[in-house]
Amino acid sequence: MIVLGIETSCDETGCGLVDGDYRVLGQSLYSQVETHARFGGVVPEVAARAHLEKIGPVVRAAMDEAGLDFAAADVIAYTRGPGLLGPLLVGSSFAQGLARTLNKPAMGLNHLEGHLASAYLTDPKLEPPFLALLVSGGHTELVHVGEGLKFTLLGQTRDDAAGEAFDKCGKILGLGYPAGPEVAQLAASGRRDFLHLPRALMDHGNLEFSFSGLKTATTREIGKLGDSIGARINDVCASLETAIVDVLVSKTLWALEACGENQLIVAGGVAANSYLRQRMTELCQREGIKLTLPDRKFCGDNGVMMAAAAQKRLQIGKWPVAGSASSGLSWE
Ligand code: KG4
Ligand code: ZN
Repeated sequence: MIVLGIETSCDETGCGLVDGDYRVLGQSLYSQVETHARFGGVVPEVAARAHLEKIGPVVRAAMDEAGLDFAAADVIAYTRGPGLLGPLLVGSSFAQGLARTLNKPAMGLNHLEGHLASAYLTDPKLEPPFLALLVSGGHTELVHVGEGLKFTLLGQTRDDAAGEAFDKCGKILGLGYPAGPEVAQLAASGRRDFLHLPRALMDHGNLEFSFSGLKTATTREIGKLGDSIGARINDVCASLETAIVDVLVSKTLWALEACGENQLIVAGGVAANSYLRQRMTELCQREGIKLTLPDRKFCGDNGVMMAAAAQKRLQIGKWPVAGSASSGLSWE
């Protein structure tokens, strides 16, 4: 089976073709980051228009790279939610129109199920049960994935997501949008213990996250630093990255203890972060856990991961039920 996957939930227009062995046959991605950078964040209406303009060429480019005819696609997968409504509408209309034209089924999927599925591209033999830490710009979730793809949400953020904390604190530090990759780059040569920033909800076993306090703390600390901030920006970024990663590592360990699993995947845009990858690798070596980290190029939003998620469902024989968790908007 060959799945054509489409992703348009935020500011990337993505398409990927994946076969039953999770091989990427073709892919194409158009990032709108530059369009939104001057506004300091994603403007939903602008994003929807850009998706509309790019979706056709992006899908065409993925097909061309695969050297396949549209008829070769057995299923058309797309992101049903969560995400920005206009952008989602563009992707779902395109996917359903294409499916109808080709007389093939369309499968609407949860965007986070797509992030999770980027791990199958690294390890095609990966099978549930496992624990997933999903860290993106919009979500921070610990999800248990049981046999037969039974999803159980164990914990999530009460306010800002991990990626959002990187972006918003980076903005306070005067960095561009999205700030996550730049914070990480500056942090690499910074002192991790320069500032002590808060780690919230750290009572043992608590699987809820809260990152919003980091904005106030960052503002306060740079106020104290005054003009010397320029010289200490690397140290501030390293302290911020450490505060976020410490929380993610501790809570992942508690979740592993709670569900008793010995397999972990970490996925989503923030999973591209080198320090997070290093700390999770150390945690898993120490605890005897099998860790799967998606290739960095599949951590951010892309169409390949949506195709991979659909492949897993086809293999398990679990088609999403409209209106339920599996189709989308939440895990319940
Ligand atoms: O999964 P994603 O592409 O989009 C959403 O579904 O939200 O995640 C984007 C998020 C942004 O907040 C971005 O700053 C963050 O991932 N990000 C990073 C890194 N690369 C991307 N955060 C920290 N370190 C990175 N290297
Ligand atoms: Zn995402």
